[in-house]
Amino acid sequence: MGNYADEINKRRTFAIISHPDAGKTTLTEKFLLYGGAINLAGSVKGKATARHAVSDWMEIEKERGISVTSSVLQFEYDGFCINILDTPGHQDFSEDTYRTLMAADSAVMVIDASKGVEAQTRKLFKVCVMRHIPIFTFINKMDRDANDTFTLLDEIEKELGIATCPINWPIGSGKSFKGVYERESKCVITYSDTEKGTKEGHATRIPIGEENVLTEHIGEEYKAQLFDEIELLDGASAEYDLERIQAGDLTPVFFGSALTNFGVEIFLKHFLAMTTTPLPRRADIGLIDPVENDFSAFVFKIQANMNKAHRDRVAFMRICSGRFDAGAEVKHVQGGKVMRLSQPQQIMADERKILNEAYAGDIIGVFDPGIFSIGDTICMPKEQFEYEGIPTFAPEHFARVRQIDTMKRKQFVKGITQIAQEGAIQIFQEYNTGMEEIIVGVVGVLQFDVLKYRLENEYNVEIKLENLPYEHIRWIENKEIDLDKLTGTSDMKKIKDLKGNPLLLFVNQWSIGMTIERNDGLELSEFGRN
Ligand code: G4P
Repeated sequence: MGNYADEINKRRTFAIISHPDAGKTTLTEKFLLYGGAINLAGSVKGKATARHAVSDWMEIEKERGISVTSSVLQFEYDGFCINILDTPGHQDFSEDTYRTLMAADSAVMVIDASKGVEAQTRKLFKVCVMRHIPIFTFINKMDRDANDTFTLLDEIEKELGIATCPINWPIGSGKSFKGVYERESKCVITYSDTEKGTKEGHATRIPIGEENVLTEHIGEEYKAQLFDEIELLDGASAEYDLERIQAGDLTPVFFGSALTNFGVEIFLKHFLAMTTTPLPRRADIGLIDPVENDFSAFVFKIQANMNKAHRDRVAFMRICSGRFDAGAEVKHVQGGKVMRLSQPQQIMADERKILNEAYAGDIIGVFDPGIFSIGDTICMPKEQFEYEGIPTFAPEHFARVRQIDTMKRKQFVKGITQIAQEGAIQIFQEYNTGMEEIIVGVVGVLQFDVLKYRLENEYNVEIKLENLPYEHIRWIENKEIDLDKLTGTSDMKKIKDLKGNPLLLFVNQWSIGMTIERNDGLELSEFGRN
């Protein structure tokens, strides 16, 4: 305790969320330009592979034995030690993408200025809101024609239900992008696209009081428009309020162009000034303080090794308090065992780096012989507490699954149950029958292929998947509801999870609304409690 407080306090751990192609990877690359990357992992290098088709993806997983779909980058900038958690998108979108957000203390939301709020952002955003973590918005691609700035802000407010506070304001867009106005310093920072891919170009800072200089740089028309907009903005937008930002009620908004590296450092500086040190985390004995408490961590992701020759798994944990020392004994609370964590490593896409120490805020991956489950707590042997569990996130694709060879029933049930325990898929049963009929739910369709592949390769069971038309699942919050009496729309399906909790499947939003209307007091949730 104590003397490594500085190490912890300089840490900032955040996730980047966006819809595919908004510029998450490009922005991350640019962040790294500003910091000496300590542990360069994954997302940048892995980007080319992130777009592989399913079959290639399997090959990659097999070769590397570790997922290319998740990574952490660690770099230092301005005295901070920054951990960026990448949230896999595209085809790889899965429940893990959501779980990654459980390990972050804040989120950066990247939005394409010509597209506005898109589907995947919306989904990930909901998880951030549930956790009340601060959300920072970077509106990207200002070097391309963008939607009207006020409209973009309005969309964020309406679609996502969060107030916005622009920290800077764009002047023009596309070919006539002139730069941004930084509200705090009352300066215009001019855009220059001279050094693509390297550090920020020769931006000039002009106080708006220097009107002549400003006109010279951005022209009379843009200057007049800017002055009008500043006035509008000061009157209409939410006031800067750090408390609201840190509570996740208000999102600071930045404009820039990751590709041409404009607005990235401005973002980084403001962002670091507004984010928090690693946050305390709730356990059954109360809040655990990152600095005051000894080492503790929780498992937020388990990655099965796709390589048959090495049937190990990697458990990823977020350190919540204290200092992790690879040589020290720790306790796996749920397993009731004292142990040394085996091969602790920094998570990387194509490399593993063995670590000797790490601090609250950091993420480590450890070899898992099959003992850890998602949400498990690891702490010092003398301690006894459990961190709050990680919720189950709503799958969006469902299929009925059957084994082809009926003689292999046992392996099938064992395999599918184990894969579900790792959290790659969720399994459900018909509401009033047993294990005969199994329904699989996944967040991203790729998981269906992963399931099929793994059952064949690891458990020697061939399966047949029959897609079901459902797109929405809801957990029933009120335990007293009698499922037999519950009436929904004709296309609604009643199911239960492995613990016997009742759930409902719906084809569309309309059916959800109708079902709530028809059953007085029924409370449905998009998140399941573990
Ligand atoms: P993602 O990780 O969110 O999926 O997005 P990524 O960074 O891969 O960016 C998607 C595409 O958008 C890339 O082009 C990238 O170069 C481009 N891009 C990112 N930021 C900006 C920006 O500020 N302005 C402009 N004009 N484009 C931007 P691509 O052609 O799909 O890929 P690549 O071949 O360039 O890698």
